[in-house]
Amino acid sequence: MPGEKAAVDPMPLWRYVRPLRRFAFLRSTFYLAIVFKRWAFDGRWLKPETFEVGYTAGPDCWGYESGPGHERLVRAAALLDGVLNGGRPRRALEIGCAEGAFTQMLAQRCDTVVAVDFAPSALARAAARRDWNGQVRFQRLDLMREPLAGSFDLIALMDVLDYFPSGRMKAACEKVLACLPSGGFLLLTAVKQADIFDTAWWSKWIIRGGRRIKRHFKEHPLLTMVAEAELDTHVLAIFQKI
Ligand SMILES: C[S@@+](CC[C@H](N)C(=O)[O-])C[C@H]1O[C@@H](n2cnc3c(N)ncnc32)[C@H](O)[C@@H]1O
Repeated sequence: MPGEKAAVDPMPLWRYVRPLRRFAFLRSTFYLAIVFKRWAFDGRWLKPETFEVGYTAGPDCWGYESGPGHERLVRAAALLDGVLNGGRPRRALEIGCAEGAFTQMLAQRCDTVVAVDFAPSALARAAARRDWNGQVRFQRLDLMREPLAGSFDLIALMDVLDYFPSGRMKAACEKVLACLPSGGFLLLTAVKQADIFDTAWWSKWIIRGGRRIKRHFKEHPLLTMVAEAELDTHVLAIFQKI
């Protein structure tokens, strides 16, 4: 129509890259292009505003209150119980607490919990979830951009690092470990991605997908993996700081 702008393809190169995946030897290059495309054109998952949209749309936007979403939390809690073996951490930190579904499970197992998230609506809903009796403190914090302070016997970092580009993910890992004393536990969960993200020649430098994130922690000189589990969609692991 006159005066109307022609639709602009924001990623004109993409149509040339997509066919690469048909050739086995070029497949990893195709997936590398996916990662670059995500970084270059899709930074929305790095911003709290994107998560806010989900939270303001209605409660339980991740489906943690029932079904497979809830089952993952139950499995994570069971893995934790096996490692704690009756012990009760005094101070726990949960990073990316969302609406407090796992916070509730942590509160049953730990004396005090600091639960942080960068989405204000998630924090408000988590705080209003129940009477926490002063046992849980909710705080707004952006793990990617802000410093992390304190010392915690247990840190839960579940389904958060999936959104971080490799460099930021490695930096966040160091930030988290600085708040974990020797003997402290780190509970990690992350979403599985296509196998090629684990095996590609570039996967050592460009970390993407739950199994690769877990491997980064497993290879960390300050950590020992003490428990692990795998679901259809997720990897779960617990590490102890040396
Ligand atoms: C997929 S949900 C996972 C919630 C919960 N940890 C779980 O696994 O059940 C991701 C949560 O992490 C939060 N998040 C994402 N990036 C973050 C960041 N840079 N700093 C703090 N929270 C973040 C989001 O707001 C969201 O609530």
